[in-house]
Amino acid sequence: MNTFKADIEEIRRRARDKMEDGAVTKSYQADRGKVIEVLNEVLATEIVCTLRYKNHYYMAKGIHAESVAAEFLEHAREEELHADAIAKRITELNGRPNFDPEGLGTRSHAEYKDVDTLNEMIREDLVAERIAISTYSEIVRWLANEDPTTRRLIEEILAKEEEHADDLAKLLARIGVPHAPTHTDS
Ligand SMILES: [Fe+2]
Ligand SMILES: [Fe+2]
Repeated sequence: MNTFKADIEEIRRRARDKMEDGAVTKSYQADRGKVIEVLNEVLATEIVCTLRYKNHYYMAKGIHAESVAAEFLEHAREEELHADAIAKRITELNGRPNFDPEGLGTRSHAEYKDVDTLNEMIREDLVAERIAISTYSEIVRWLANEDPTTRRLIEEILAKEEEHADDLAKLLARIGVPHAPTHTDS
């Protein structure tokens, strides 16, 4: 019992000592530098996804454009919320969120590609969502119990990306069977 009490005191003392380190305590198990690095890649992914959805929102045209564009805009806003949550977590870990446009595309897991048709836009977005789903799932497994707070955040974002992928698959089914783009697409 006494040992336990002493331990609690010791933990409290260390917590007070390290208060300037914010949420990072001695019981933090993960490799903080590595976690921040990985989170900066997630941040880049979310920024690239925001930009891609915004581009698609403004470029959407055609018979199905209105409802599809509304979906693009909603996704753009949600990706931006993800970027904000990740940036906040990076600062809680005493890291620097990297918003540098230089190298953004390289840091991102998902691609930014310019396409013309609504069909291609939805398919590009679906590919990007699937990439995010697979890399975020890997991050969740990697974090395991080493940093439960970051893991929970990634899990929440992952659930949203799965919803996005589902929305896009439904849109594709609604506007037509996916097909290889040809020069006759418009
Ligand atoms: Fe996202
Ligand atoms: Fe998404």
